[in-house]
Amino acid sequence: CAKICVLISGNGSNLQAMIDAIGAGKLNARIVGVISNRPDAYGLERARQASIDAYCIDHTTFADRESFDHALQAQIDALAPDVVALAGYMRILTPAFVDHFSGKLLNIHPSLLPKYKGLHTHQRAIDNGDTEHGVSVHFVTPELDGGPVIIQSRVPVFEDDTAEELAQRVQEQERRIYPLVLHWYCSGRLTMNDNKAVLDNEILPLSGYA
Ligand code: GAR
Repeated sequence: CAKICVLISGNGSNLQAMIDAIGAGKLNARIVGVISNRPDAYGLERARQASIDAYCIDHTTFADRESFDHALQAQIDALAPDVVALAGYMRILTPAFVDHFSGKLLNIHPSLLPKYKGLHTHQRAIDNGDTEHGVSVHFVTPELDGGPVIIQSRVPVFEDDTAEELAQRVQEQERRIYPLVLHWYCSGRLTMNDNKAVLDNEILPLSGYA
């Protein structure tokens, strides 16, 4: 079955959703390694508890982004995954890294892309008076948060929402859609062609599918 490598920087609730989906038979894949750039990421503990190899490559010990990404790439290559899933991985990747894994690099971003690339997406949606917000899973290309979108899930924004409350609502959707996308990828149905995400013969994104 397909091999997944998961990159994290923090809590790892998306990682946990993948582990659970595999356990429930909804995702026919094996997580061959979890890599964090932060030693204190709780997701590393989640990996160990699931008997998955967990690695930390601490970015603060590298002179520059290129040398860090080079080490990261070497560790991933050693695991020989079919797909690399960024799951709350909070570092910008070099173009060389992204090109190396082109077509097999996925990311989850907490906004309805192309809205709110970058950080603090929930607060920005609130500040903007949006009544709707959400999350996107997309292929990673060298343009930050700009690669082809695979699926989006929408949530309402309520008048008195705090960024934390909104983030919670969005993350419930994250836990549903990321394992689904990985299931598609791992069963050979999802590809990136010509900078477009394609599921079976359909050009994505599909909205409201999940
Ligand atoms: C998730 O909400 C994910 O969408 C976001 O970080 C959180 C990680 O949660 N990702 C980004 O902001 C990427 N720029 P998790 O560690 O519990 O999966």
